Amino acid sequence: MNDQTKQSVTTEIVGDIALVAIDNPPVNALSVHVRQGLQNAVATINAGGAAKVIAIYAKGRTFIAGADITEFGKPPMPPALPDLLNEVEQSAIPVVCVLHGTALGGGLETALAAHARVAIKGSRIGLPEVLIGLLPGAGGTQRVPRLAGIPVALDMCLSGRQVKVEEALTMGLVDRLDEGDPRDVALRAAQDVLNGALETRRVCDIETVADDEALDAARAMVAKKHPNLVSPQACIEAIAVSTGPLLDGLKVERKAFMDCLNTPQRAGLIHAFFGERAVANVPEKSATPRDVASIGVIGGGTMGSGIATSALLAGIPVTLVEVTDEALQRGVATITGNLDGAVKRGKLSAEKRDATLAKLTPATGLEALGDVDLVIEAVFEQMDVKKEIFGKLDTICKPGAILASNTSYLDIDEIASVTSRPADVIGLHFFSPAHIMRLLEIVVGDKTAPEVTATGFALAKRMGKVGVRAGVCDGFIGNRILAHYAKTAAYLVMDGATPQQVDQALEDFGFAMGPHKVGDLAGLDIGWMTRKRKAADMPSNERYAGDVADRICENGWFGRKTGQGYYIYEGRDMRPNPEVAKIIESERQKAGITPRSFTDQEIVDRYLTAMIVESARVVEDGIALRPLDVDIVFLMGYGFPRFRGGPLHYADTIGAAELVRRIEEYAKEDPHYWQVPDLLRDMARDGRSFADINKEA
Ligand code: 3HC
Repeated sequence: MNDQTKQSVTTEIVGDIALVAIDNPPVNALSVHVRQGLQNAVATINAGGAAKVIAIYAKGRTFIAGADITEFGKPPMPPALPDLLNEVEQSAIPVVCVLHGTALGGGLETALAAHARVAIKGSRIGLPEVLIGLLPGAGGTQRVPRLAGIPVALDMCLSGRQVKVEEALTMGLVDRLDEGDPRDVALRAAQDVLNGALETRRVCDIETVADDEALDAARAMVAKKHPNLVSPQACIEAIAVSTGPLLDGLKVERKAFMDCLNTPQRAGLIHAFFGERAVANVPEKSATPRDVASIGVIGGGTMGSGIATSALLAGIPVTLVEVTDEALQRGVATITGNLDGAVKRGKLSAEKRDATLAKLTPATGLEALGDVDLVIEAVFEQMDVKKEIFGKLDTICKPGAILASNTSYLDIDEIASVTSRPADVIGLHFFSPAHIMRLLEIVVGDKTAPEVTATGFALAKRMGKVGVRAGVCDGFIGNRILAHYAKTAAYLVMDGATPQQVDQALEDFGFAMGPHKVGDLAGLDIGWMTRKRKAADMPSNERYAGDVADRICENGWFGRKTGQGYYIYEGRDMRPNPEVAKIIESERQKAGITPRSFTDQEIVDRYLTAMIVESARVVEDGIALRPLDVDIVFLMGYGFPRFRGGPLHYADTIGAAELVRRIEEYAKEDPHYWQVPDLLRDMARDGRSFADINKEA
C-alpha cells in the first residue's frame, strides 16, 4: 500500500461493519491507487474476519465518476478494473455500495459488482463511455442486461445518458433509495444487510433474458445515425453475448473495449472532453466576475430572442429592447416559441415556462436599460449602427454595467472607442439558435478589464455554454477560419466537382451537413453580402470565390428560405438544383476552366488543409490562446465531427511535415491562397505537434 493508496481508500470498522471510503477528488475516478486500495480493502476484510458486511461509499461531491480518463493511452497498471470487480463480486462477505452524485461508467460498474445498491435521492447513474469512444469495459454490458434487461442496457450504453436514481429503481439497477450523508447511509444499509432487511445477491448468478428484436432495432439505428462510429456497434455486440456465461461475456466486452481504446476516435473524443474544460483556463480566470442579476438584450430578431431565451432559461431576468412595438411583439413571440420548444424537449416544465416568461420585460427604447448589469447588443452587423447604440448605452447604463456586442466579426475595440468605458466593453458572440448552441466566443478587446472577461466566462457557465476566449480580428476564431476554408468548396466546384459531391465527401468524413447544404440553410445572401463588403479589399491576385454563388443569389435563390439554392426544397424532400449545374457550366466556360475530376479523398484533404492553415494562423496571431480553443470552437459551433477532435487535433493525425508538403503542392495551382503558415513550417522543422503546443500553453 503506498501513501496515495492510504489516502484514496480507507477502511473503518464499526462493529460487524467494514465501511470502505473512497476519497480521490475531484470526482473519485478509479485511478490506479484507488483500484489498488479497493483490492487491498476487500481482500484484507475477507481475510481478517473482523467484519460481516462491507459498505463502500465515496467522500466528496460524488460517488465514482468512472475510470480515470487520464490513464487511457498509457501502459495499463494492475489491477485491471474488470479483475478487481470480479473479486468484489466473489467476495464471501456481502458488499453493498452507496451511490451519491453521479455514479458513471466504471463507478456504476463497481456498484453492479456489489451485492446490493443503495442510492441517495437526486443522484444519477449512467454509462457514458460511448461519448468518449468506448463501451463499458468492466462489466456494464454484461451486468446491466442481467438486472434490467437488454433494452435498458442498449438505451444506457448507446445514449450515455444520466438516469435519475428514481428511474433506476424502477429499472432494477438500484435496490433502494435513501437520504442523508453517504457514510450514514452506508452504515444504515450495512445494518440492514446484517438484519436481513436488505437482500444481497450476485448479479453474475442472474440470467439475461434474450431480446433479438431489440438488438436488431439498435443495430439498424446505429447503422443509420452513427455510421462512422466504432464504439456504438461494439456496445451492441457485447450486450448481445450477455445471455451466455458472465466470464465469456466479460472477455468479449474487454476485447472490444481494448480495440476501441486504440482507435483515433477515442483519442478525438477524449481530446474534446478535456478541451471543453481546458478552454476555461484563461489569463483572467483568477479575476472576480461581476454580479449579473439582470440582462438587457437589444434586438428581438432570431439572435436577440435566442440570447434572451438562453438568459431566461438560466434564471436571469431580461429586458428586451426593440425599436417598434411591432418588432418587440415579434421578439416576445419568438422567445415564447423557444420556451415552448424547451417544454417539448423536456428541458423545462410547463409551470416553469410561465414563471420563466414572467422574468421578461419587453421595452421600446434603450432608456429601459439604465439599471441592468449587462447589456448584449444583437442588432444587424453595421459598424455605424453599433457605434450609435454603444454611444447611447454609455450615457444610459449605470456605472459598472457591462456592454457586450454579439457581433460575429466587427472590431470590438472600435465599438468600445465610442464609449467612455472601454474596459467594460466585450464581445459575446453567440451561435444560432442561441438558446440551443452551446458555444460562446468571448471576444476580449485591448482595453477589456479582466473581471469583465471573467464575467463572460461565468455567464457562459450559468447558461450551460462553453466559453472560448478570442482576440479581436475580422471574424474572431470561428468566422475568420470559415471565411478562408469556405473558398475551397467554391474553388473545387469551379474546377470540376459538383456541390453534391463536395457535400457528400464531407458528410462521409463526419460533418453533419456539407458546406452547400449549410449555405442553403443559413441563407446564401449572408455570404453574398460578405463578399460585397470585402470586395474593395480583395487582393488583386486572389481567386474570386463567388462566381457561382453570386449568380445563384442574383436569381433571388437564397437557399431553404426561398425554396431553392444549391438544392431545391419541396416539403421534406431536397434534390440538386439543375439550374445551378447550368450556372456552374457557364461560369467554368467564362473562366476558361476545363473541369477535372476529384476523388472524395482529394476533396476532404483540400478542404481540411485549408481549415488547418487558417486555424494555425489564428493560433500564431494569438487570436486563439491554444490550438485546443480552435478545436472546441469548431466542434461546438461549426459541426466538425466530434470524434475527429477538431481541426488541429485532426492536423496532428496528418503531421505538420505532410501538411506543409500538401500546401506546397496545392500552391503550384494557386500560390496566393495556398501559403504555408510560419507556425506550421516551424512545427514541421522541429517535429512538434499542436498537442505539444497545448501542453506548453
Ligand atoms: N477521469 C479523470 N478526470 C475526470 C473524470 C474521469 N473519469 N471525470 C471528470 N474528471 C475531471 C475533469 O476533467 C475536471 O478536471 P479539471 O477540474 O482539471 O478541469 C474535474 O474532474 C471536474 O469535472 P467537471 O468539470 O466535468 O465537473 P462537473 O461537476 O461539471 O461534472 C461529471 C462531473 C459529471 C463527473 C463529469 O466530469 C463527467 O461526465 N465525467 C466523465 C464521466 C465519464 O465519462 N465516465 C466514464 C469514464 S470511462 C470508464 O469508466 C470506462 C469503464 O467502463 C472501464
